[in-house]
Amino acid sequence: MFMVEEYVNASKVQYQDAMDVIEEFDKEISETKGKCIDVGCGPGEVTKRLLLPKLPSGVEVVGADISKPMIDYARDKYRDEKRLSFTYLDIQTEELPNEHVGQYNNLFSFFCFHWCHNTGRTFENVWKLLRPGGTALTMFPASTEIFNAYEKLHENPRYKPYMQDVDRFVPYFHRCKDPRAALRTLLEDIGFEIQHCSRRERSCIFQNTQTLKDHVTPINPFVSRFPDQDLQEEFMDALMREMATMKIQFSKKDYSDQKELGILNRYQLLVAYIKKPSDAR
Ligand SMILES: C[S@@+](CC[C@H](N)C(=O)[O-])C[C@H]1O[C@@H](n2cnc3c(N)ncnc32)[C@H](O)[C@@H]1O
Repeated sequence: MFMVEEYVNASKVQYQDAMDVIEEFDKEISETKGKCIDVGCGPGEVTKRLLLPKLPSGVEVVGADISKPMIDYARDKYRDEKRLSFTYLDIQTEELPNEHVGQYNNLFSFFCFHWCHNTGRTFENVWKLLRPGGTALTMFPASTEIFNAYEKLHENPRYKPYMQDVDRFVPYFHRCKDPRAALRTLLEDIGFEIQHCSRRERSCIFQNTQTLKDHVTPINPFVSRFPDQDLQEEFMDALMREMATMKIQFSKKDYSDQKELGILNRYQLLVAYIKKPSDAR
């Protein structure tokens, strides 16, 4: 993800969902000790504004992300925050850098793991990052209509050359009949103790197509691949049309002065709070 400012300006939904989960696990977070990592921290807003204030004053957090522009932005913006540092890290990597292995008492991750096609390796790396007895709180979308729209647009010969790897961006859980059960099994097979594992139905309303477009553009993995702006815009408009056919559109009292209909966005989140057993290696 490279559109840092655009993401910061249009990620209210992600911010709200992270806030809700952080509130829900308030007690566990307030009892955190040692060193933490926030995987897929993006621009660092959630790490700094939501997570850090909940953690005891001695606890330090490393924000980690695969995107260099995100890390550069976060480092610059929060350079005065002594308890916070940022590092480049790919959570799907085959080989975790030694400097991170077994270093963390707690791991957090919000809206990142659906980007990781190799879910097994992703959670194996969570295991490796944690010290024995360490915990992880993760939240990510299991399923949203946008993944169906990607698959549909991939069939269009105009967009196909830029979407050859579309499968990489449709999360494993999107195709699972029972994503919660699949996640539980995966976590248990790795050896985690499961303290909590749930699937939640969520929804939000976008005032019009433009606000939906502002929301999905910075998290779109394909748009930056198109060779010119015209094709980029054409693709995003096609994506909006595709999504509109899948969504409920309605007029809202509050927006009665607006010609465009509100758009109901429904999605499912997976939340897991897991522990690496104290006697694990
Ligand atoms: C939607 S943003 C979420 C940012 C932040 N956690 C939040 O809740 O606002 C997803 C972030 O995950 C990062 N990401 C995607 N794949 C990753 C990977 N394999 N390893 C680490 N970070 C990754 C992206 O670069 C992006 O910054």
